[in-house]
Amino acid sequence: MAKTSVSTMLKMKQSGEKITTLTAYDASFAKLFADNGIDAVLVGDSLGMVLQGGDDTLAVSIDDIAYHTKCVRGGSRELFIIADMPFMTYATPEQSCMNAAQLMRAGANMVKLEGGQWLLDSIRALTQQGVPVCGHLGLTPQSVHVFGGFKIQGRDKEQADKMISDAKALEAAGAQLLVLECIPSVLAKAITEAVSIPTIGIGAGKDTDGQILVMHDLLGISAGYIPKFSKNFLVEAGSMPEAVQKYCNDVKSGAFPSAEHEFN
Ligand code: KIV
Repeated sequence: MAKTSVSTMLKMKQSGEKITTLTAYDASFAKLFADNGIDAVLVGDSLGMVLQGGDDTLAVSIDDIAYHTKCVRGGSRELFIIADMPFMTYATPEQSCMNAAQLMRAGANMVKLEGGQWLLDSIRALTQQGVPVCGHLGLTPQSVHVFGGFKIQGRDKEQADKMISDAKALEAAGAQLLVLECIPSVLAKAITEAVSIPTIGIGAGKDTDGQILVMHDLLGISAGYIPKFSKNFLVEAGSMPEAVQKYCNDVKSGAFPSAEHEFN
């Protein structure tokens, strides 16, 4: 049984304890993360880029995520696992339920969907069927071609107001966790205060209820471009277990992310 749950994460938000999360794709890293203080992992469709070498996440299939979720579960019975629903696998409530079932059977504790109010019927259907849902707002990578690139979202007032109302609507429909990606820190703070569910930030400043990084960025092994919001913890720590512990300590103490990792 996973040590973390939707209830423990909610209590962490309420008590002000930061939630530490990383992406994970296999058994060895799942065990490393479970043994060194990570509260939850995401089997992210970022695997399309960091494992498969794609330019974006769109080629990832539900079978890919199910396979890696099974690998991660094989490494740890204790980890809380969030599994990403890939591009075009949750276009309708029926499709969402069928595909989420595959991920839950593979070992996930929760599924993550990218998007705003158009998802409400799917979120209601999933939660009614017993599938916990994590929302994802801001720079939602599956919409990269609509955005015209991997660009910071929510900088103008209209977009920011829309994101706050999307966050409230996702919570009202049943979402129990919310990822905020690459948005101005003030907006992430406003969303975190506007909802009762925990928020997990990546490139969203220090005021979200928790943080997530792609594990390859934390270990400094991402090929090519290193995003401004990420940090190579291995370079300072010297070993992988110490890098993960340092990340956890820095997130819990509020030392990471600092101003240099934020967007305005
Ligand atoms: O796919 C992924 O790894 C993600 C995180 C970057 C939040 O969605």
